[in-house]
Amino acid sequence: MGRLGLLMAAVAMPLGGAALATDLEVTHWWTSGGEAAAVAEFAKAFDATGNKWVDGAIAGSGGTARPIMISRITGGDPMGATQFNHGRQAEELVEAGLMRDLSDIAAEGSWKDVVYPPTLLDSCTLDGKIYCVPVNIHSQQWLWLNNEAFEKVGLPVPTNWEEYSAAAPKLQAAGILPLAVGQQPWQTTLAFQVLLVALAGPEAYTAVFGGKDAEMAAGPELAKAFQAAATAREMSKGSNVQNWNDATNMVITGKAAGQIMGDWAQGEFQVAGQVAGEDYSCLPGLGVNEVIQTGGDAFYFPKVDDPEISAAQAELAKVMMAPATQVAFNLKKGSLPVRGDVDLAAANDCMKKGLDILAKGNVIQSPDQLMSADDLTQVNDLFVEFFNDTSITAEDAQARFAKIVSNAS
Ligand code: GAL
Repeated sequence: MGRLGLLMAAVAMPLGGAALATDLEVTHWWTSGGEAAAVAEFAKAFDATGNKWVDGAIAGSGGTARPIMISRITGGDPMGATQFNHGRQAEELVEAGLMRDLSDIAAEGSWKDVVYPPTLLDSCTLDGKIYCVPVNIHSQQWLWLNNEAFEKVGLPVPTNWEEYSAAAPKLQAAGILPLAVGQQPWQTTLAFQVLLVALAGPEAYTAVFGGKDAEMAAGPELAKAFQAAATAREMSKGSNVQNWNDATNMVITGKAAGQIMGDWAQGEFQVAGQVAGEDYSCLPGLGVNEVIQTGGDAFYFPKVDDPEISAAQAELAKVMMAPATQVAFNLKKGSLPVRGDVDLAAANDCMKKGLDILAKGNVIQSPDQLMSADDLTQVNDLFVEFFNDTSITAEDAQARFAKIVSNAS
């Protein structure tokens, strides 16, 4: 046999008769320390099936990654699997027939019986077919605090937004930035929405974002949120980092006292060896209105005309939903599992708070679920403008907000 023949035989003959390992490229935007640690759990579990996870991390943020993912799929260069957020981000790809129907895999794994809350699976479903695997519940309704920063200025760790904002002058005097906010627009928007839900309350939030109640938008409940946002704007002056995890790092290292961010921030605290409740504290709903938002991440599988890739896709879908992977991944990610039937005895203080809120059913829908993308873009642009331009008063911003809401569909 010539060299080429030998090579071909080696390629064609699986070792010991085992199935050939298939490389599966998986794209996502998980590039921070905590995110990378969590995604490694998926890779490990998938590789254990004899296949090979080929990591397709895209740096930046979801906003950078999603257009790249979408253009690869629509452009005929699909990856094996890809992350999107729960909800409607992949809807057009599904409608265009580009995504794989996972209904058979879901039925085999009884996903309908185990996924909790059921809205997670609803977000993957179109015309009765299931197109994604929800992998976690991530809520953005959190405030993360460095305990030592407050000790340094002789204050107890705040238990709510009021105590926290009242501590700002002392923190500033001690050279500690009260509130770290990364400069990417989505982070400003996130902070603003969290303040709105916490201070105007979940009912007002749902009435305004869901019911498009313009009167409520212009009223006294919402005014509290706009005032608090003006305070947050002051508290974050001098916060000049870009990425969310750099802002989290300011809190971890005590340069800043707090950050309003989703519970993925928790992955960073963990990688830094910090202990929830000891080194850092977390206040869901800013300690005012304890709710969580049942958004998160889901994986989609582009349709491919290759039986080996298809088989590897099915394997990955099953692995992601498997109880052991759900626990290992979510403990590192700072998110909650999508299964109601897994043992989370190892959950830390903050995750326990999240699980408790979930069990009470204190959940809200995300802005993406309640408002059209066009209307939401206007709202988000306003929040970003307000946060970056101190000449805009809280009253002016609220009036502009109410106008957007009155025109929203
Ligand atoms: C969100 C995603 C989280 C986390 C975060 C920051 O969209 O749901 O898992 O990755 O972005 O990267």
